[in-house]
Amino acid sequence: MTTNLPVTTGHQLGRRSWAEPWKIKMVEPLRITTTAERERALADAGYNTFLLRSEDVYIDLLTDSGTNAMSDRQWAGLMLGDEAYAGSRSFYELEQTVREVYGYRYVLPTHQGRGAEHLISRVAIRPGQFVPGNMYFTTTRAHQELAGGIFEDVVIDAAHDPEDEHPFKGDVDISKLERLITREGADNVAYVSLAGTVNMAGGQPVSMACVRDLRALCNRHRIRLLLDATRMVENAFFIQEREPGYADKTIAEILKEFCSYTDGAWMSAKKDALVNIGGWLALNDEELFEAARNLVVVFEGLHTYGGLAGRDMQAMAIGITESVQEDHIRARIGQVRYLGDLLAAADVPVVRPIGGHAVFLDARRFYPHLSQEVFPAQTLAAELYLDSGVRGMERGIVSAGRDPATGEHHHPSLELTRLAIPRRVYTQAHMDIVAEAVQAVYDKRHSAKGLIMTYEPRYLRFFQARFDRL
Ligand code: F0G
Repeated sequence: MTTNLPVTTGHQLGRRSWAEPWKIKMVEPLRITTTAERERALADAGYNTFLLRSEDVYIDLLTDSGTNAMSDRQWAGLMLGDEAYAGSRSFYELEQTVREVYGYRYVLPTHQGRGAEHLISRVAIRPGQFVPGNMYFTTTRAHQELAGGIFEDVVIDAAHDPEDEHPFKGDVDISKLERLITREGADNVAYVSLAGTVNMAGGQPVSMACVRDLRALCNRHRIRLLLDATRMVENAFFIQEREPGYADKTIAEILKEFCSYTDGAWMSAKKDALVNIGGWLALNDEELFEAARNLVVVFEGLHTYGGLAGRDMQAMAIGITESVQEDHIRARIGQVRYLGDLLAAADVPVVRPIGGHAVFLDARRFYPHLSQEVFPAQTLAAELYLDSGVRGMERGIVSAGRDPATGEHHHPSLELTRLAIPRRVYTQAHMDIVAEAVQAVYDKRHSAKGLIMTYEPRYLRFFQARFDRL
């Protein structure tokens, strides 16, 4: 078999390669479909990759959320889960682990990240208050808006430029934030909503210098600083790699230091924490925590299970411990970077630098002949699936939704198709296949015509919207 991929070994390049710090104990067969089958499946799904059946997908890069492979320790942990309704031992183990690894005082389990986003938005936002953040995330902003908050993007401009090589594209532009505080008054700012890494910008990290500056600013104005810690372990890897003074610190030390500058965090454990379901909200402020702990029983379940089975909490506690191991995170980001570098070497336009959890194809440069009104990133996700059965997702104008005040489409500068890589699931050979599939779609890019939206749901439309070919 011939391949156009580089065959240079790490040794020839004068470096030692990383490899996955695990071996495979159980396998799940994959199904390869025909072009005719994919054509039908895609039309049935309204050209939205969220509406495909997974059995029609070959390599599934829709999301890194809840798609991780658990370790043998985690599977063993499921058997040890304590299924008591109240006071489960598994809850106390989870609480202890979050305290140790992330450093917050009070912990509430939730069924997943958006359960925690719902609670924190309700208890920390007064209707009409502003919520500045380092770029929006879909569910985060939806809950902030449902609670009456007004989201304002204060990320640095580089984050909106897919070609900018800034090492910390997730950083907040402190002067943008100061202008907002001066304009609206500190009392009209609910909290600063900081995410590490920034999903919508391409999995881009926030620097330690930035969170330190934010802490100082928030202290001056008595504003809370709350963290979306969903991919904060991946963020810690980039700080270790790129920020002066951190090369000799462990991932665990960096993570804990970063969190120490914030007042609390919400978490989708379906990402960093290597489980298939789960989340948490953790806070240092007792009063705010009391309010959230009271609400959790209304929406999630008792405060010692928050919508999860005991076994889920047990697996999460073990997953958190595994997530901060150096060899794990190096291989995890190494694999994402491997795919990104293959595509960049083939001149496929991708967001630079390659981020933590996914490679983002830049659909504007991929399809320069398509206007944003015909959904280039949605089109690209559909074309990629059709070519090879590889599933990615749209992260552009469809995901951005509409302004709740004016009803107009948001027009994000980033129009991206995301290839998110589940943790510990696929091999390097799968990444080679994906790179070849993207290259094939790139080779026939001139024939793409775009899509029209035929059905638009009210909330988080990207999940359920339907399209047709133009
Ligand atoms: N915050 C970030 C940064 C996320 O990426 C997600 C989910 C959430 C919060 C919400 O967590 O899904 O557990 O309710 N992101 C998934 C994704 C859906 O594909 O990026 P959840």
